[in-house]
Amino acid sequence: MKPHNLIKIVTVGIVGFLFSTILNASSSYPIKMTSFMDKAGNTIGTLTPGTKLDVIKVSGKKTKVRVHGWSAFGAETVIFKQVGKRIILSILDESVISKVKKGQSKTDEFESVWNESSFTGWVKTSALINSQEKIWEKADNLFKQRCGGCHQAHPPHEFTANQWPNIVKAMKDRAGLSIDDQWLLTKYMQAHAKDIK
Ligand code: HEC
Repeated sequence: MKPHNLIKIVTVGIVGFLFSTILNASSSYPIKMTSFMDKAGNTIGTLTPGTKLDVIKVSGKKTKVRVHGWSAFGAETVIFKQVGKRIILSILDESVISKVKKGQSKTDEFESVWNESSFTGWVKTSALINSQEKIWEKADNLFKQRCGGCHQAHPPHEFTANQWPNIVKAMKDRAGLSIDDQWLLTKYMQAHAKDIK
């Protein structure tokens, strides 16, 4: 191989590596139900496990993040992942609703109006992980341990994203799930549901 070709390959490799590191660094995910705080550290809402967050800045023990999704007209405290699916990303306090940034609006098949919504706040850095896969792995272990004892385990793709919250809720006590487990499993089942690509 000619030396300049080698240099080219190495350069492309380094640039690619740096770029992917930057991309990875820009998203993070709460491991479990996590407090969403204002700058002063007051809780102003909750983030659900596995929710994709844009990292704005890390300052030691706290990280500034943005959650982005959709809210339904008349129920602005809840930010959902997408229009018409009950995949909850964040539940905000009534008191901060006026600070939610609104984008475009859409009307779903039931004539409900949805608004693109994003909200910025702070979370504990230790509550975050930069791999959503790791969170789903943990959820999958929970699913394998707790959901196949009484009947054949019903895999995520058997039901829709809107069906899973009630199913997991109905099985919660039977499977001995804590509230955190319930949220983690619900988010995992929804992320892999039959109507989610
Ligand atoms: C202690 C026993 C037990 C455990 C553990 C259990 N289930 Fe069930 N599950 C049942 C019974 C009994 C039914 C029958 C319907 C009913 O009574 O609700 C059922 C029904 C279901 C159904 C409905 C099937 C259908 O065709 O409508 C789903 C889905 C389901 N379970 C999922 C789960 C998941 C997910 C978990 C783990 C979080 C779980 N189950 C853990 C006992 C259990």
